[in-house]
Amino acid sequence: MDTVEVFNGIRFPGFIHTQESLRAACSFLFQDKDILLVTFPKSGTTWMQQVLSLIFCQGHLWPIHHIPNWQRAPWLEQSNLVKMLGSLDPGQPRLLTSHLNAEALGPAVLRSKARVIYMARNPKDVLVSFYHFHKLANFLPDPNSFEDFVDEFLEGKGFFGSWFEHVKGWLGLKPDLNMLFVTYEELHQEPRTTLQKLSDFLGHPLKSEEEDFVLEHCSFSFMSQSSMVNYSLVPKEVMDTSRGRFLRKGVMEDWKKHFSPEQNEKFNAIYQAKMGDLGLHLPWTM
Ligand code: A3P
Repeated sequence: MDTVEVFNGIRFPGFIHTQESLRAACSFLFQDKDILLVTFPKSGTTWMQQVLSLIFCQGHLWPIHHIPNWQRAPWLEQSNLVKMLGSLDPGQPRLLTSHLNAEALGPAVLRSKARVIYMARNPKDVLVSFYHFHKLANFLPDPNSFEDFVDEFLEGKGFFGSWFEHVKGWLGLKPDLNMLFVTYEELHQEPRTTLQKLSDFLGHPLKSEEEDFVLEHCSFSFMSQSSMVNYSLVPKEVMDTSRGRFLRKGVMEDWKKHFSPEQNEKFNAIYQAKMGDLGLHLPWTM
C-alpha cells in the first residue's frame, strides 16, 4: 500500500495520489467564492476543516455528524476529488483543502479571488506528529528511527516535501492572494479571537452564541469522539488505529518530549538559516 508518486521532485503517497490527480490539482479552476485551506501535513488541517464547516453550518449539526471531513472539504490533489466535489452542498461556498506547495498550486489560485487560509504549526510539533502518523498510516512507510526522521525532515526529503519551502512559498504569495495566515498555536491559545479573525476574513461574522457552538464542536475532546473527523471510518488496512490515534495528543510543544538536545540544536540552526530573515513573528519558541 505504501507506493510513492513523485511529482515535481516531491514524494506523495501513491495510495491517494496519481500523476493525473496531482496535475489536475495544479490546473484546478477556482471560483472566486471558494475557500481554500492550505497546510503542510500535521499542522491542524482536520481541526481547521472542522472549524470552517462549523462556521458555515449555521447551527445545523447534520453535516458535522454525518459527513466526513474529507468530503466536507476535499483535498484537491487526491484521486477522489471529482466524486467529492459532486457531493458538496451547492448552496455553500466550496471548502477545499490542499497540502501542495505554492510552486505547484500557486498559479491556479492566483487566477482567482478565492480566499486562502494558510495554517502553520511549530515545525518541531509537525515533525513529531508526522512521525507518529507514519506509524499509523499504512500508506506511508514506517519510519526507521526518530533520528532519521528528523534528518529527512530537515533536508526536506520527506513526504510532501520541505516544511520550510512550503511555509515560505505560500507566505511569498500572500501579497497577491486573498490570504489569511493563521497558526495552530493561535487557535490553541486564543480560540475565540482566532475564530473571530477567521469568520471576519470569510465575511461570515458570528454571534457570540454561534461562536460558543463552533468552539464546543471543534474541541479536541469532541473531535476525538467524532467518527466524522477522527478517521475511525477508515479501514484498518489504511490506518492501523491499534498503533495510535489520528487525534493523538492535540497539544503544543510535545516536541520537548521527543527531541534530544543535539537534535534540537541541529534543528534550530537550520530553522534560523532558512526562516531567520522572514521578518515575521511566529507564535512559537524554538
Ligand atoms: P498531534 O499528532 O500532535 O496530536 P492534520 O489534521 O493536519 O493531519 O493534523 C493533525 C494534528 O492536529 C494532530 O496533532 C491532531 O491531534 C491535531 N488536532 C486535530 N484536531 C485538534 C483539536 N481540536 N485540537 C487540538 N489539536 C488537534
